[in-house]
Amino acid sequence: MIDATKFVEDSLEEIRKTVSKSGVISACSGGVDSTVTTFLVHKALGEQMVAVFIDDGLRREGEPEFVMRTLKNLGIRAKYVDAKKEFLDVFKGKTDAEEKRKAFRDKFYTTLGRVSKEENVKFIAQGTIKADVIETVKGIKSQHNVLEQIGIDSKVYGYKILEPLRELFKPDVRKVARELGLPKEVSERMPFPGPALSLRVLGEVTPEKISIVRKATEIVEEETKGLRAFQSFAVLHNDKATGIKNGRRVYGNIVTIRIVDSEDALKAKAKQVSYEILMRVSERITGEIPSVVRCLYDITDKPPATIEFE
Ligand code: XMP
Repeated sequence: MIDATKFVEDSLEEIRKTVSKSGVISACSGGVDSTVTTFLVHKALGEQMVAVFIDDGLRREGEPEFVMRTLKNLGIRAKYVDAKKEFLDVFKGKTDAEEKRKAFRDKFYTTLGRVSKEENVKFIAQGTIKADVIETVKGIKSQHNVLEQIGIDSKVYGYKILEPLRELFKPDVRKVARELGLPKEVSERMPFPGPALSLRVLGEVTPEKISIVRKATEIVEEETKGLRAFQSFAVLHNDKATGIKNGRRVYGNIVTIRIVDSEDALKAKAKQVSYEILMRVSERITGEIPSVVRCLYDITDKPPATIEFE
């Protein structure tokens, strides 16, 4: 584990030295990594930084409001960018997981490029951590926030990148969050991937599928809160299956529930969860979402599976 006090001191100095008098925008999705990054840069530079929340239409229920409120409560100047339509457009016709990831990544960086011009800044800060870099460099997945480590120069998007957490794993990020005095709802927050619900819709991402997986996610999170799992969420399948609703045949959706324990996200264990909880989640998902006829529980560790499905 790192010495969080020293890490904060060193980071503040490094950020000030690198940025000097330039402006910075910090891409904040509301996850623990990007919120810690944003708070660190804010602490180092004050009003020289503006946090940017990009609303890509792929977030959990209530997330945009939560993020904007959290930033405001932390005293951070923040800008809301409505990019819902443009993000959903990039997924049209795309079914391959890596193709979808790369399309999201490109839209993410071009959107930041546009905002960096509007704000007249030379730097963007982002919450990339060590696990993101390791898995992208190994070729397992193109994580949305890894560029320079795979040879893409951020100058093509018109700015330089600051990644103060690039050498940390998740437990250290949480330690830094506590050191910075961030509220528990941030420091202990369950990890949520940058490309959000797009990784949890198998096949083509559409607004209808996002709204199904968003509702299923809300149910899983509510019903598994007490488990203190590393991550718990729902995934919407591309295939359909036969079921019965109101006495009639329905060829409907399949949802998988994924609940894992992990330290650093590089390895994970499928959590042993009581049937009572699983049945409750299944009853709620199939009862509250009309198109879903079947609920499955994923019992695969990482490896051989990964945590997310895409
Ligand atoms: P996987 O699915 O690779 O996930 O086992 C490992 C951890 O990383 C998160 N994840 C991402 N986070 N951008 C992110 O910010 C991404 O592109 C991305 N892909 C996966 C995942 O939720 C898990 O915590």
